Amino acid sequence: MTAATPGRSILRNSLILGLFAIFTVGLIAFIQQATSERIAAEQQRMQMRALNEILPDDQHDNDLLQDTFSIDDRRYLQLPAPATAWRARRSGEVIAVILPVVTQDGYSGRIDLLVGIRANGELAGVRVVNHRETPGLGDKFEVAKGNWIFSFDGKSLSMPAPEGWAVRKDGGEFDQFTGATITPRAVVQAIYQALRYFEEQRGELLQLSEQESTHD
Ligand SMILES: Cc1cc2nc3c(=O)[nH]c(=O)nc-3n(C[C@H](O)[C@H](O)[C@H](O)COP(=O)(O)O)c2cc1C
Repeated sequence: MTAATPGRSILRNSLILGLFAIFTVGLIAFIQQATSERIAAEQQRMQMRALNEILPDDQHDNDLLQDTFSIDDRRYLQLPAPATAWRARRSGEVIAVILPVVTQDGYSGRIDLLVGIRANGELAGVRVVNHRETPGLGDKFEVAKGNWIFSFDGKSLSMPAPEGWAVRKDGGEFDQFTGATITPRAVVQAIYQALRYFEEQRGELLQLSEQESTHD
């Protein structure tokens, strides 16, 4: 047997290395794609569950998940781009809306909420649907972690009065989390701003018919 010349063995090793690199890059791309699809599907599932919890089926007679409109507001809702909102109807009349709301003031930045507001301006319910707050410290707004998020149910712009729309540490009415005030402070403010938006846009939001959208 003749030994491979150095030139040949370099070529062969380069080829093997090249193929290995191509395989690895392909594998990483595949895993990334599969993971991002799973994350998107999970977020979609969480969103649907949140919508149904905020306005359960027995409170409206339309298909809430299909009755959507586009909303675009940076001032109150802090939406970085137009986003989907939902309306609940009874006999065609809009009885509540669920608004997408963003705050960038969380301990770890952005927190995404869904805020349900009834036609009379009372909160139907609130859910946090995306966040990066610290597990066990800053995530007590999660339904699985406690009742805190339910403390907003039935509240409105006038109940409590504006100065009550803060955590207790700041003189307001809402509990902070033990050792973590930044997160609940951000969430309370985001909800209050959503109520202000609703108050300002009330007429338009309640008169929405199919296919209409509302913009800043
Ligand atoms: C590692 C680490 C993670 C933290 N995560 C959060 C958080 O997710 N939310 C929050 O409000 N505070 C968090 N904090 C605490 C804040 O730094 C800050 O001390 C606190 O929010 C202020 O609340 P207090 O006024 O009740 O002390 C964290 C602190 C550390 C050291």
